[in-house]
This record gives sequence, C-alpha cells and structure tokens, in this order.
Amino acid sequence: MVYPIVMYGDPVLRQRAKDIEQGTDLTQLIEDMYETMHNAQGIGLAAPQIGKGVRLFVVDGTVLDKDDDEAEEGMENFKKAFINPVLLEELGTPWDFEEGCLSIPNIREKVSRKDIIRIRYYDEQWNLKEEEYDGMKARIIQHEYDHIEGKLFIDYLTPLKKRLLKGKLNDISRGDVKTEYRILAPLRK
Ligand code: NI
Repeated sequence: MVYPIVMYGDPVLRQRAKDIEQGTDLTQLIEDMYETMHNAQGIGLAAPQIGKGVRLFVVDGTVLDKDDDEAEEGMENFKKAFINPVLLEELGTPWDFEEGCLSIPNIREKVSRKDIIRIRYYDEQWNLKEEEYDGMKARIIQHEYDHIEGKLFIDYLTPLKKRLLKGKLNDISRGDVKTEYRILAPLRK
C-alpha cells in the first residue's frame, strides 16, 4: 500500500518518534514503506513521513548504483530497514551535499555532515546490529535518523537561507506544490 507523504508543517515531523515494542511484526509496515518510497522515487523514508511517530526508517540506495556517480558507489546491498536505531557516533571530516526530502518537495540545499557514522539498530527479524557506514550511505542514514528525532535538513540552513525559503515552505504546508506522488498537507483547505 502506498501511503500519502506527510508535508512540511505537520507536527508529526517535529516529534521525537517513539521506540517500537520488541518483537512487533513490522513486515507489512516495512513493505508499505518501501512501496511508498519507491513510488515517490526516494532513497530513504522515515515512519513519521507517513504519519507514524515510531522509530523506523527504510533506505534503498540500490537505485543510485545504476548511475556511475562516484559518490554513489557500493550501493548494491544498501536496501534495509532500521528499527529503534541509535546513532552511536559521527566522526570524520564534514562534507557538503545538496539534500532533498520527500516531505519538502522541490527544495534542495547544501548540508554539511560528518563522513562516518556508527549505528546500532534492529533489523526486520529483530536481530540487533551494530554497523559503520561512510560517505553517501552515512548521509542517507543521518538524514533519516534526523526524521525520527523530529529534525529536518532545512534546520541546518543559515537564518538567511531559511528566510528566503519561507514562502516556498508555506506553499508546501498548504499543499500548493507539484509532486509525482500523493501528499498530505497539514494546512490544505
Ligand atoms: Ni527526508
């Protein structure tokens, strides 16, 4: 099932998402999240973006691997769900990349993030994992992890940049934005 994607301005995107009870069967929800993400041509989707305030996100970088962009190498197995993740550490040199977000359509801005992360999480079978990622994979995880902390990539922008985006952001909250996927805009009349 493809969910509509919650737009900027909805309080669910600003809440710290809640842990999921261990052992909960998430098969259907995770499948729906992949379907919703793929339908919107995204490479990451967090549960709050479909209106669910729980600590879960999915990523799929395999779609990027087809391009031969250097930043997108090694993505062939990078399709997974992260349940109750804990970002243990971020290290390495910060680097800039233009990020976008399915909840903030048609806006892309440069965000600086550290290069390497360590993360602990449960996989779909509730096996506890601890892994290290770098580069583009780390960035996708950092962006999605922010979502379950109630944070958005525009929070990293300078006050000036944010002021310049204000009109566009208001339009998005009202649903006055063009997308190829179904949206749920909090201020739509
Ligand atoms: Ni996002």
